[in-house]
Amino acid sequence: MNRIFSGVQPTGNLHLGNYLGAIRNWVRLQQDYECIYCVVDMHAITVWQDPRELRKSTREVAAAMIAAGIDPRRNTLFIQSQVPGHAQLAWIFNCVARLGWLNRMTQFKEKAGKHRENASAGLYVYPNLMAADILLYKATHVPVGEDQKQHLELARDIAQKFNGDFGVELFPLVEPLIFGEATRVMSLRDGTKKMSKSDASDFSRINLTDDADAIRLKIRRAKTDPDPLPGTVAGLAGRAEADNLVGLYAALADLTRAQVLERFEGAMFSRFKEALAELTIERIGPLNAEMKRLLADPSEVDAVLRAGGERARARAEPVLREVYEVVGFLSP
Ligand code: TRP
Repeated sequence: MNRIFSGVQPTGNLHLGNYLGAIRNWVRLQQDYECIYCVVDMHAITVWQDPRELRKSTREVAAAMIAAGIDPRRNTLFIQSQVPGHAQLAWIFNCVARLGWLNRMTQFKEKAGKHRENASAGLYVYPNLMAADILLYKATHVPVGEDQKQHLELARDIAQKFNGDFGVELFPLVEPLIFGEATRVMSLRDGTKKMSKSDASDFSRINLTDDADAIRLKIRRAKTDPDPLPGTVAGLAGRAEADNLVGLYAALADLTRAQVLERFEGAMFSRFKEALAELTIERIGPLNAEMKRLLADPSEVDAVLRAGGERARARAEPVLREVYEVVGFLSP
């Protein structure tokens, strides 16, 4: 049985890029896999988080996932810190992974920047915790973006070394699931930069909490060039902003870029943007409304997450027991 695990950090300002690049794919995976989805608050605190913001963002991410169609009765949706097994297995993996492996992680280098000495120890062992997330459930497939592929490789190395050191076949070798076209949504202000929650300009992104008027305004103000839309994908070369908007339309309408261009060949951006805004509103509107409803009284989301945590603990328990046995820990 194939089992999916994926994690998302509870950082505020979820945007269209998060939805089209991750959340929507997770919803689709429910049809073919047993899915375990986790809000990774323990990963979030590897860099400073304001406690109130963290709590708010944790609920917001969970609400977005539920609103987007992740069914918490069929799947397991929970918060990492509510399942102690993640920390327990991560410690064991801290003792399996080699310093040399962690030293090669490009994300640590990027996030720690010039002030490496001042980065938290947690940020350094972040990939070990990620490996623990996945392997605690013996997940076989992990949907991730390009930026997480190296961490997933490390999870495979850890699984392999653990199995080898102890002469067991306990952990499976996880495979990444990388998604196809249009998962990279770029900034509305600069078609060469990824849409990001940390961009100073709110006009660079469409937040999942934006209402219809905000969506219309942001798309109307999106950067473009003065030429009309080309008839073929080749005509988008060197036109990063045009390419991004066409890609967005394609992703939202479940079409290819070529199909979108067939429909809009020769159109001016004013007309295309109007169509794109209406499509975005149509797709995001219901999600947006459901998110607002869920967040108005967090007790429902909290209850869903608590039930998910219980289920996750039950799933993790036998694996953890196996690990204890193999490592030589006495059972509690
Ligand atoms: N590191 C991932 C990110 O920043 C989040 C994450 C944590 C994750 N644990 C995971 C993703 C396990 C997949 C599987 O996007």
